[in-house]
Parts: sequence; C-alpha cells; structure tokens
Amino acid sequence: MLNSMLWLAAVGYMPIASASPLSASIPPAPPTASHPNSQPHTPFTGTPTTTGALTASSIGTGIAEASSIAPAETTYASNGKLQNAEPAPYVPAGGVGTSGSIPVYNAKSDFDYESLALALYQEWIELDLFQDGLRRFSAKDFEEAGLNAADRELIAFMAEQEVGHATLISNMLGASAPKQCQYNYPYTNVQEYLDFCQKLTRFGESGVYGFLGHLDSREAATLLTQSITTEARQQMIFRQFEGLFPMPVWFEVGIPQSWAWTLLAPYVASCPADQTRLVWENFPALRILNQPTLSDAGKRNNGSSFNNTLDAGLNVAKASSKENPNSKNDLSAGASVTPDRYSPLSFPGRRVDLQWEEPGRPVGPNDSYVTTSQAGEAKYVAWASQLNITYTPLLGVDGGRGYTIQPDMETYEGDPAVNGTMFIAITDSDLFLTPFNLSMINSHVVAGPALYQAD
Ligand SMILES: *[C@@H]1O[C@H](CO)[C@@H](O)[C@H](O)[C@H]1NC(C)=O
Ligand SMILES: *[C@@H]1O[C@H](CO)[C@@H](O)[C@H](O)[C@H]1NC(C)=O
Ligand SMILES: *[C@@H]1O[C@H](CO)[C@@H](O)[C@H](O)[C@H]1NC(C)=O
Ligand SMILES: *[C@@H]1O[C@H](CO)[C@@H](O)[C@H](O)[C@H]1NC(C)=O
Ligand SMILES: *[C@@H]1O[C@H](CO)[C@@H](O)[C@H](O)[C@H]1NC(C)=O
Ligand SMILES: *[C@@H]1O[C@H](CO)[C@@H](O)[C@H](O)[C@H]1NC(C)=O
Repeated sequence: MLNSMLWLAAVGYMPIASASPLSASIPPAPPTASHPNSQPHTPFTGTPTTTGALTASSIGTGIAEASSIAPAETTYASNGKLQNAEPAPYVPAGGVGTSGSIPVYNAKSDFDYESLALALYQEWIELDLFQDGLRRFSAKDFEEAGLNAADRELIAFMAEQEVGHATLISNMLGASAPKQCQYNYPYTNVQEYLDFCQKLTRFGESGVYGFLGHLDSREAATLLTQSITTEARQQMIFRQFEGLFPMPVWFEVGIPQSWAWTLLAPYVASCPADQTRLVWENFPALRILNQPTLSDAGKRNNGSSFNNTLDAGLNVAKASSKENPNSKNDLSAGASVTPDRYSPLSFPGRRVDLQWEEPGRPVGPNDSYVTTSQAGEAKYVAWASQLNITYTPLLGVDGGRGYTIQPDMETYEGDPAVNGTMFIAITDSDLFLTPFNLSMINSHVVAGPALYQAD
C-alpha cells in the first residue's frame, strides 16, 4: 500500500478512500495542473518588487577543475564477461535503483529542484506559445505558409502535450512549483512563428539534455526523459513545417541550465506575485547579424541580408511578408517531411557577424532578473553542436561587435559537427569541454548563447 501511495502522490492522483471493487479496477486519471486560459501578450511595464537570481545564504567562489580521474571510474573490466554474481536469474549486478528500493518521484537536491523548475518554466511557455499562434493567425495565414487544417490540429495537440508535461513536473515539485506566467513574443507572421517555435523547442530539448544525467533523482530523470522525447518530436515537426531538413545531425546537443534560462527569460513578461524564483544566470544577449535562412540555401555567401533577426538570443529571422515587406528572408520552403532538393543554409568558412550586450540589463519575469557575466575579455566564439564544443577566434572586436568564421569539423567521419539548429556563445577562454562537463563553461561566458541556424 505504501508503494502505491507514493507513486500516486508523484503523478498527482488522489486515491478515493472507499472505492467499490468494480470501480477500483479502473481508477480515474489524475487531474491536470491548473493554468490560466487566455492571457494578454504585452511587455511588462511596472517596477520589479525583487531583483536578481535566487541565492543561498552562502556562495562558494567557484568549482575547481579536477587534476585527475577518480580511480573507481576506470576499474570495471569492460570485456563482455560477468564480473560479479547475479542478484537474480537474468539480472546482471549493478545499476542504480535496481535493488528493490521503492522509487520516489521527487526532487532530491537543490540541483534537482532548480533544474525541474526551469524545465517547468519551459513547459508553461510552450503551452502558451502553441496556443498563441493558433489564436493570432488565421487559417488563411497558415495556408499561405503551407500549413493546412490537420497541421494546425497537430500544433493544438502539442499544446495539450504541454499540459501533461507541466502537470508531471508540477506534481514532482509540489506546492511551490512555478506557475504559468504572461509572455510577450516578437513574431509578426506565421513564418516567424514557426521559426520561433522551432528554435524555442530546440533549447527546451537541449536544456534538459544538459542536466538529465546530472540529476540526483533518477526517478525524476526517468519521467523527464519520457516527456522530453515528445518535445524532441515537436522540434523536428517545426523544422518540417518550415521545409528544413528534419534532422541533419547524428546527435542532439545538450546545454547548461543558465543557457536555457538566458534564452527563455526575455519572453516572460510577468509572473504571479508568489512565483518561485530560479537560481540560474541570465547572460548578456548575443545577436547574430547575419543569421542563415532558407534564402541562403546553397549560396556560399556570408548571409543574404544584414540585421535580419527579430531578437537577440533566439535570433528568429524576420520573414518577408505583408507585415515585413522589406525583409529579403524566406523562412519557409513549404511544409514537407523531407525536402527533395535540400541545400545547406551555411557552410564552414562562412563569416558570422555578431553583436552583444554589456551585463546589467533587467530581463525576464517582471524585469526582475539582471544579466551578469563573470568572464574577462571577449576572445572566442564557442560552438556547441552535437557532441562537440569547439572554439573559433573572435575577430574585428569593436565595442560589442565582432565576427568569426564557421569552423570545419566532423563529430565522427561523415558527420559535419556544426549543423542543424545549434548554439554559439562568446567566451574569454577556449577550455576543453565535453558533453558531461559543459556547464564549466559558464564562468567564461561573456555573452550568449544565441541560436545559430547552421542548417
Ligand atoms: C509581476 O507583475 C504582475 C503584473 O503586473 C503582478 O501581478 C505580480 O504581482 C508581479 N510579480 C512580482 C513577483 O512582483
Ligand atoms: C565572407 O567572409 C570572408 C571572411 O571575412 C571573406 O573572406 C569572404 O570573401 C566573404 N565571402 C563573400 C561571398 O562575401
Ligand atoms: C545593422 O545594425 C547596426 C546597429 O545595430 C548598424 O550599426 C548597422 O549599420 C546595420 N547594418 C546594416 C547593413 O544595415
Ligand atoms: C549538415 O549535414 C548534412 C548531412 O551530412 C550535410 O549535407 C550538410 O552540408 C551539413 N551542413 C553543414 C552546415 O555543414
Ligand atoms: C567531437 O566530439 C567527438 C566525440 O566526443 C570527439 O571524438 C571529437 O574529437 C570532437 N571533435 C572536436 C573538434 O572537438
Ligand atoms: C572536461 O572533460 C574532459 C574529459 O571528457 C576533460 O579532459 C576536460 O579537462 C574537462 N574540462 C574541465 C574544464 O574540467
């Protein structure tokens, strides 16, 4: 009985005290988390009642890089033979949570709580975003961008999926779980909306991959994996709605929590008065001045138009449309499962022009967070894509402007590493990092990340 009670609390199901034997066989599904239905989409104009990220009573000076690998990390003889007695038939020794212990689906540390709370902010904005596009643009607007009624139904279903994801994480966090907020978006037409969704779901997905393997709560990690794989499908569908190649990469990149929060916060106008605050950093915004778009496909130029993005951070490209008649960008080749003649949007050797802000700007819910950086001089551009984090020199630095050259490297032979919808940031150092220690980059971030539409 105790086991099932704990599980039911995690998924949010309130057991009925005296169910009859008949009804007990099919319990009602747990309710979804409550959320406001239609909120205004306007910028915040008031004064923040609090400022800065959540902090503990004591803060250390930094995380030191280890000088050697712990011996226990390399003692397992990886030779295909069983090294230990089996605890049961067909059961190899080892694993975590495999000894018959009762799983509890909750946060088990500040790291878990803050990571799950960030993921919840993400689920809430996606719920609002998917509904907002359907509300804001007409069936005809969608048809002109190549999307039919069934495609709009799919976006509406994605919003329903977000209700489920937000409920799951709210239940794991308990009563203090962050609530849905009010948002403000920069898009003006369906093409820009699709590009916004495609980029927002990319950092939502990558933001979770960055911390999943680090969670103390394996139980929470398991349920979160089962929701983030749905988000991964959403991201790919938005690429297909734009007529981009659905998945030009072999691996999906993970990014640190503070990168995801930096990208998300600018679109949160205000949150309820008692909203739970986050510990993560907001870095200064990074703008790509020549974001690759479909107008650049197959042309080995340095970008068909300058200053072509709606915003820093996400760097959604402005689309040519009746709202934006001066933009030369085409963001959509028409929805398709796989475009039959696809040409890359960018290429190694392409010049990428960048502009970034100084720290100290109010950002996020109620303008109550402030951008910060612990880094020194802007020297490199970090490219986070697939399994790789690589650096190129930042050139022609002049105030908050500079450029770099897109690197040429493969993750494995035959797989161009810089590809798909990926991330760049400006750093003061080119320290060597791999997917599991990427967050060590944070104290070296001058500005960013920005979403780069490599392909
Ligand atoms: C944020 O702004 C909203 C709208 O003005 C307000 O209702 C809310 O109390 C504010 N939240 C905080 C934490 O000050
Ligand atoms: C792109 O930029 C690079 C580096 O500045 C330059 O060498 C190259 O000529 C440029 N190419 C085009 C097509 O403008
Ligand atoms: C792009 O915008 C910057 C200001 O943000 C301006 O200095 C520059 O002249 C613009 N470039 C073009 C080609 O429009
Ligand atoms: C992305 O990968 C595809 C498939 O390997 C390749 O054709 C394309 O050129 C790559 N794009 C870039 C920007 O390297
Ligand atoms: C890219 O990642 C792969 C896999 O971790 C690694 O073997 C390779 O050396 C990396 N390449 C670069 C240029 O960092
Ligand atoms: C990150 O991990 C790699 C091993 O995968 C290690 O070589 C590197 O030194 C680590 N970087 C830092 C800054 O700790």
